Amino acid sequence: MFGFFARKGPFKASVAPSGASFEVKPGDNLLKAALDNGLPWPHNCRVGSCGQCRCRLKSGKIKALNDFSYVLSGEEMDDGVILACQTSLRSDVEIEVAMDQPPMQLSQPITATGAIADMRALTHDIVEVCIQLDAPLPPYLAGQYAELTVPGVIEKPRSYSFAAAPDSERPDQVRFFIRHVPQGEMTGWLHAADRRGQRVSVTGPYGSFWLRESSAPMICVAGGSGMAPIKALLEQVSQQGFQRKVTYVFGARTQDDLYCLDEMHAIKARGNGHFNFIPVLSREPEGSEWSGLRGNCVDILSPDAHDLPNSHAYLCGPPGMVDAAIACLTKAGVRETHIFYDKFLDASHTPSGRG
Ligand code: FES
Repeated sequence: MFGFFARKGPFKASVAPSGASFEVKPGDNLLKAALDNGLPWPHNCRVGSCGQCRCRLKSGKIKALNDFSYVLSGEEMDDGVILACQTSLRSDVEIEVAMDQPPMQLSQPITATGAIADMRALTHDIVEVCIQLDAPLPPYLAGQYAELTVPGVIEKPRSYSFAAAPDSERPDQVRFFIRHVPQGEMTGWLHAADRRGQRVSVTGPYGSFWLRESSAPMICVAGGSGMAPIKALLEQVSQQGFQRKVTYVFGARTQDDLYCLDEMHAIKARGNGHFNFIPVLSREPEGSEWSGLRGNCVDILSPDAHDLPNSHAYLCGPPGMVDAAIACLTKAGVRETHIFYDKFLDASHTPSGRG
């Protein structure tokens, strides 16, 4: 008796309109293969919930790893739209996806080894971790992230954004701001003791959150360790000589949650009036000496205040904050295509979250 054996791959994905093509190995999803090949494929959550990796299948056979209908409309699915992070291939495919062109060819991610060289408490629950690499990672863009593991201790990778612009850092060093997540395995381990000298692995760079070339005013909104990629972007804008107006709204609970204030003052001093840093505290005790703004950081995003309709927005932080900021900004007239964001999901929500 003869049987037919389905080919398991690898299969080839050809991408329009960019003309790129890459191989998808058995066991890999379409998004992972695209990112491993250094393509600027839009993405965020990597677990089928944000919809950013949507693309259109023009030809070929795929297997949906999850029900797309949680995220995609019936109309989109009828039109062949799929989620790359929830798709494995059953044949060679042709795919259509809109990829923003990064300012330079994206590096193909690699895994580098190194050791924690320094740890510094930034607040009561955020540490800066500086890693000395044995050999440099490929060049990254400000705003991108890497995955961190601690061999033999924490094997499941966790994602952290680079906390400095590449030109502010030695090529064989990387730094991250890591917030303690309750029950987070990685962050619990890191925050429990002085981990200097500990061997770690860093895989990257990843991510499609980078500075889009434009002279439009920028509005940045961040909370918690979302400071890291925004600080990296601001350092880049500063190194480029502040060719545009930039407003940075940082939401925190109390004064104890504010950090990088010296760095923000230094950027402001170089900004020649083009940079405005606005910390907003949501739970600062009444009657304290705080004279800055109070409340929810997204509440100050009014159309008149910051030339919002003409702005590009860069948002980073917890999903609730990012979603609220997107809603406010679109209401204030910011075009959806001008809103760039990185939602920080913890490890329970993503294949390599931040827990
Ligand atoms: S749905 Fe695929 S990256 Fe979020």
